[in-house]
Amino acid sequence: MMTHQECINCGSKYAVDEIIYFCKKCGDLLEIKYDYDELARTLSKSEWKKTPLSVWRYKDFMPINDFSKIVSLNEGGTGLHPCQRLGKQLGIRRLHVKNEGENPTGSFKDRGMTVGVTKAVELGVKHVICASTGNTSASLAAYAAKAGLQCSVLIPSGKIAYGKLAQAMIYGAKVLQVRGNFDQALDVVLKLSEKHRSIYLLNSINPFRIEGQKSLAYEMCDQLNQESPDRVVVPVGNAGNISAIWKGFTEFHKLGFIKKLPKMTGIQAVGAAPIAQAIKNGSDEIVPVGKPETIATAIRIGAPVSWKKAVNAIRQSHGTAETVTDAEILDAQKMLARVEGLFVEPASASSIAGLKKLTENGEIESDEQVVCVTTGHGLKDPDVAVQMSEKPLEVDAEMEAIERALGLKTAMVMPVYGG
Ligand code: F0G
Repeated sequence: MMTHQECINCGSKYAVDEIIYFCKKCGDLLEIKYDYDELARTLSKSEWKKTPLSVWRYKDFMPINDFSKIVSLNEGGTGLHPCQRLGKQLGIRRLHVKNEGENPTGSFKDRGMTVGVTKAVELGVKHVICASTGNTSASLAAYAAKAGLQCSVLIPSGKIAYGKLAQAMIYGAKVLQVRGNFDQALDVVLKLSEKHRSIYLLNSINPFRIEGQKSLAYEMCDQLNQESPDRVVVPVGNAGNISAIWKGFTEFHKLGFIKKLPKMTGIQAVGAAPIAQAIKNGSDEIVPVGKPETIATAIRIGAPVSWKKAVNAIRQSHGTAETVTDAEILDAQKMLARVEGLFVEPASASSIAGLKKLTENGEIESDEQVVCVTTGHGLKDPDVAVQMSEKPLEVDAEMEAIERALGLKTAMVMPVYGG
């Protein structure tokens, strides 16, 4: 069995170079499948373990035919930060944060785009497109620029953080602000890419994106000395990333690199939580949210396209899902910045807020080894950070004024002259 695309529902198989986003027979999602015996043989001859941590350290695990075509901006290899001080505050003895803001455009999307855009080049397409809450558009715009491809992005009008908008614009994408939310924008690009076959869709429905993003799991295992953590906590929006991370862990497990699998734990904002609700209700279907709302605009999504993969990941791994309020998200964002020196955007902080809630509710044990994935850099959304922080004092450029502002003693000190 060669590397191919396969329907997660009916098992229909499609060639790896066929441009297809949904199963032609049943309309369900696709995923990339490998011959794992063949992969194990390739790996035994490969030098991959000597290569530095990055997405392309794992090129043997990627569905690319021609590695000379790789479109890279040096993605992956992000820090797995031990967070003892934060862990102490949350009551978790072994806590790490996998900080995806360290990627070239500041989010985990770059892992998927380096593979997705490389595939686009291999397929010979000239025009790429996506709908986005911001980060996907920033990332696609950058990789399309690097590859010399035409790029169009659809974003929800007025509901995208400023840093992300700036990125999409400066990288030269055609930016369309859609009057509507992300779900509506995605609906349009799905139909558009079916109608205009020459435009290649790079939302996470595209299984090649997921292949790049699974490297998040591989890296965690390699950074923990070939072990999986007990639990991985991930913010969930359109649900591609949690699905990708789970795929990565199951592949490393199948190949014998790790002995156990982590409990996948998905966190959504209260106002945009169809997957968390389905998990809590024990339901096999989601009920889409018509008007999703949250300050964490990255995950302001009511009808996650990859919900089925995410629900499978959470159920198969014996994990869980939780919802967090905007206030809890902002508290967590501030806490992570002040206690660990990690500045992440609000959606990313939802993983910390979710961990806090689940620990307080006794659903996560203090001796579990936990990794929280923080998905995007704090500078993506400077407005939120400025709004929730104390305003800087304005002072005269004089010693006394500054001493007063800093609460220092202002008593005169006689200068000492010596010879
Ligand atoms: N965190 C951030 C910072 C994101 O940008 C996203 C998704 C997620 C978490 C959720 O990941 O969709 O794979 O479940 N952002 C997409 C975008 C939707 O368009 O940038 P997911």
